[in-house]
Amino acid sequence: MKVLHIDSSALGDHSVTRELTAAIVADLNKAVPNLTITHRDLDKDPVPHLTGASLAKVDAAEAAAAEAVLQQFLDTDILVLGAPMYNFGIPSTLKAWVDRVLVAGRTFSYSEAGPKGLVTGKKVIIASGRGSAFGEDSPADFQEKYLKQIFAFIGVTDVQFIRAEGIAYSPQHRTDALAAAHAAIPSLAKAS
Ligand SMILES: Cc1cc2nc3c(=O)[nH]c(=O)nc-3n(C[C@H](O)[C@H](O)[C@H](O)COP(=O)(O)O)c2cc1C
Repeated sequence: MKVLHIDSSALGDHSVTRELTAAIVADLNKAVPNLTITHRDLDKDPVPHLTGASLAKVDAAEAAAAEAVLQQFLDTDILVLGAPMYNFGIPSTLKAWVDRVLVAGRTFSYSEAGPKGLVTGKKVIIASGRGSAFGEDSPADFQEKYLKQIFAFIGVTDVQFIRAEGIAYSPQHRTDALAAAHAAIPSLAKAS
């Protein structure tokens, strides 16, 4: 079974989502035999922004790299994604990755019947970090809601969030939010 571990936080060792994705992957590794784990750090190793030139496949090396990003996602069984809230949405490095994965004809299609997701059999576990506390259904949330939308759009139905929020309120809030998020992790491994 293949795990793709993606981080997008720009906060390095201070990152909440990096701490959580590492713990989720370690937990999966204990729970599921024969895991192959691949790590992509979008902060250190970003995917280029989608441009007109990339759509036209002007640069063969960039087109090959974009295809590799898409294929790596298609090949994976479990995606563990670190997704902080930056300016109410996701980091632009993660958006650049999304732009290479939501590709018509590969992960979704359009027809007279409307859009159809083409991705089946994948599990996505998202570590969400937020400075403020938004809860489940805030109109100001363009991060978790956006990620739910894009994965639902391509057909992924098994999406789970491990959330640490309110972490900027005080050091105690950060400690408590991280402890609650860590406590939620073992149940994921059992469920997979
Ligand atoms: C550039 C930047 C923008 C941020 N924007 C928001 C925001 O809009 N709302 C919020 O609640 N927290 C915001 N935060 C706080 C982060 O969501 C919080 O620090 C979270 O822990 C980030 O996850 P990370 O530690 O893995 O990077 C922002 C942080 C940074 C660095």
